[in-house]
Amino acid sequence: MTELNRIFDAWPILRDKGPDAWAAFARMLLDKGKGAEAFTLALAAHDHPDCSNRDRRIANGVLNAGVPKWHWNLVQDTARNAAYEAALARVVGPDSLVLDIGAGTGLLGLLALRAGAGRVVACEMNPSTARMAADIARINGVADRLRIIPRKSNDLVLGTDLERPADAIVSEIVDNTLLAQETLATHRDAVPRLLRPGGHVIPGDGAIMVALGHDPTLATRRMGIHEGFDLSAFNRLAPPSHSLIVGTPGLRLLSQPVALFDFAFDQPESWPGLHSDVEVTVETEGTANAIIQWIRLVLDRSGAEGSVYEVKPAPGRTSCWAVVSWPLASPLALAPGGTRRIAARRTDSNIMIWLAY
Ligand SMILES: C[S@@+](CC[C@H](N)C(=O)[O-])C[C@H]1O[C@@H](n2cnc3c(N)ncnc32)[C@H](O)[C@@H]1O
Repeated sequence: MTELNRIFDAWPILRDKGPDAWAAFARMLLDKGKGAEAFTLALAAHDHPDCSNRDRRIANGVLNAGVPKWHWNLVQDTARNAAYEAALARVVGPDSLVLDIGAGTGLLGLLALRAGAGRVVACEMNPSTARMAADIARINGVADRLRIIPRKSNDLVLGTDLERPADAIVSEIVDNTLLAQETLATHRDAVPRLLRPGGHVIPGDGAIMVALGHDPTLATRRMGIHEGFDLSAFNRLAPPSHSLIVGTPGLRLLSQPVALFDFAFDQPESWPGLHSDVEVTVETEGTANAIIQWIRLVLDRSGAEGSVYEVKPAPGRTSCWAVVSWPLASPLALAPGGTRRIAARRTDSNIMIWLAY
């Protein structure tokens, strides 16, 4: 029985109604916390040929609930996509079984097939996203080789979901600070359990990079004298960091970049501890007002051109990821050759960065 029939059995009055009633009912179900039923009904309304523009808008509001907006940015980052596809092409072949953790649209699974993999199992923990990925696999004619499982990787069962350990794991579950999408906990579980010994992990390495720099937006993010009143005490409530697009005009690095933490995702036992303290050497005279942080991914360790994707700020550069600015307590005049220390503490899923000296 389809999900839609189950809903019609539960609320028979809907069976003979059209998309207008389904969309309105879906909205109500969502508001009452019945997200799965709301999604199924909204999708039926949205895809119905008689759905009006107004009701499609209502249905769309239900479908979009809880779906992060970055999916639309990720797929447009052609450098990211190319780096993944090239790395996949270097490690997969017709006999390869690839596990894609966090399918999203299914793009990495599609790229794995195009790169030559025999089969892909892709898991996606967001149920509505997983449903779209399954539609996308079917629309692109590869549903027989790209299977979408609507579950978190930790809940995949070897022998059922994956008939054997995968030859390669591919994922893109890193945010601007690398850690917030639980990439460490996910790899710690998946690598020993779902990957064959000697299998490949893409990306193989992920680093959290830092440098001292000048954030040109900081002045507008801090309070001072406004309408003749000193509001600067409010800055004690300012967020500890904020994100900036990688090509922000006027964003400058003043020191050499250094890796605060570097993780070999395929070797959880080798991961660095929770504290880091690194020295940076000033390269350019100027006044630093922030620690600038970004991520570097080594897709595979071939050393091939394009195998490293780094969100290092530079004029005109674009990326689906942002850099993160961690403001200093006060501006710091820097002279070339001088050294300072940057420190950090991490957990599995977040990081805090400060100037140690
Ligand atoms: C940043 S998106 C990447 C989407 C797609 N792989 C791509 O590269 O375009 C990450 C996706 O992974 C999913 N996800 C994160 N951790 C997961 C896990 N452990 N198991 C299954 N899905 C996960 C999220 O719900 C999200 O849809």
